Order: sequence, then C-alpha cells, then structure tokens
Amino acid sequence: MSLRIAIIYSGRGSNMLTLLDHIIAHPEKFELATLVCNIPTALGIERAQAKGFATHLIAHKDFASRDAFETALNAHLLEKNVDVVCLAGFMRLLTDRFVGAWAGRMINIHPSLLPHYKGLHTHERALADGALKHGCTVHYVVAEMDAGPIIVQRETDVLPGDTPDSLAARVLELEHEAYIEALNQIADKSKKNGPNTNASGP
Ligand code: GRF
Repeated sequence: MSLRIAIIYSGRGSNMLTLLDHIIAHPEKFELATLVCNIPTALGIERAQAKGFATHLIAHKDFASRDAFETALNAHLLEKNVDVVCLAGFMRLLTDRFVGAWAGRMINIHPSLLPHYKGLHTHERALADGALKHGCTVHYVVAEMDAGPIIVQRETDVLPGDTPDSLAARVLELEHEAYIEALNQIADKSKKNGPNTNASGP
C-alpha cells in the first residue's frame, strides 16, 4: 500500500519539487495526496503547474484567525486521506492543537544541524559563530518550533570564504537528499508496522 503524501509549502518550492519528483518516480511506495500552499504569489505554484500539478491554495490571509486557517487546512488533509504531511519551506507557525492532531505523521525540513540554529537566518548565524560544520535536519514536528525527533541530518564543512548564499546553496542540495531519505525511511517503517494512524484531526 502506498503512503498518501501531502506537501505544504510557502515559497519557491525546491524541496516540494524534489519530493514531488520522488513520489512520482516511486508509485509503489508513495502517492501524492495534495500540494498545498498558503501564499498566492509563491513561485512554487507555477513550478508545480509546469510539471502538470495543481496546488490547492489555502491563503492564511483569507482567514480571521490562525485556528480558522488550520481548521480549513485540516479539513482538506482529511478529505484527501493524507497519511504523511511534509512541510517543505512552510513559513507559518502551527498551533499545538494542529501539531498534536498530526503527531507522528508530520515532518519538516530545517536548514541547520538541529538543535543548533532553530528559527530563521540559520546560514548567517552559523557563519557569524565561526561554525565549522553546518547542514540540515528532517524531523517530526512537535509543539516546540524546530524541535522533535530527528529523522535524517546531512552536514557540510563551512568553507573559508563561504557567504550566507554559498552556504545556503550547498545546504539546499543536502536538504533535497535528506528529505528523500527521510521519506524513504518512513515508507519502510510503515511497510513493517502499517501507517501511523494516531490522528483524526483537531
Ligand atoms: C529551505 O531552506 C527550508 O529548509 C526552509 O525554507 C527553505 C525553503 O526552500 N524551511 P524551498 O522553498 O524548498 O526551495
């Protein structure tokens, strides 16, 4: 049985496209349940469209509250029978209620070697600290931001002369590898144990 994957993104969508390609290439393991974006002008929407995939837009600005936005998002995910939610450059904080409802079934990519550099501007902060290593982390999403059990990390040396942009570009390539590896691990685990079904939605 293939896992039904939702990908949720906010921007240019390079992680989203990498996941999408991997899902398409492995129908024995994965099925795209839905692509969701919360920003109407996100570049990823066009990029997915160019591959023939429509994005379901749920613009958070259209909702009066965070709860109302999440209620709509959750209803969509339930309607699409989603097994695993992949946050791929999704730039909104989620409430404990939503996170709890998808516990063990929602994963995120973060551009640092967690627990170092939670939050924004990770490349700048790693360079400012003189860090020797930097990288990315795929982890399960828990109530605390950029925390939660780690699934995969990939690291790179910080090179003399690195700028935030050069480091970001190198880490982004690692992000794509790490996300695929994490998804494969989840598929293997679910093949053994059955999909994690501990959520019914908030
Ligand atoms: C990535 O660096 C991701 O780790 C971070 O936001 C960026 C999104 O990039 N959360 P993209 O939209 O996947 O290209």
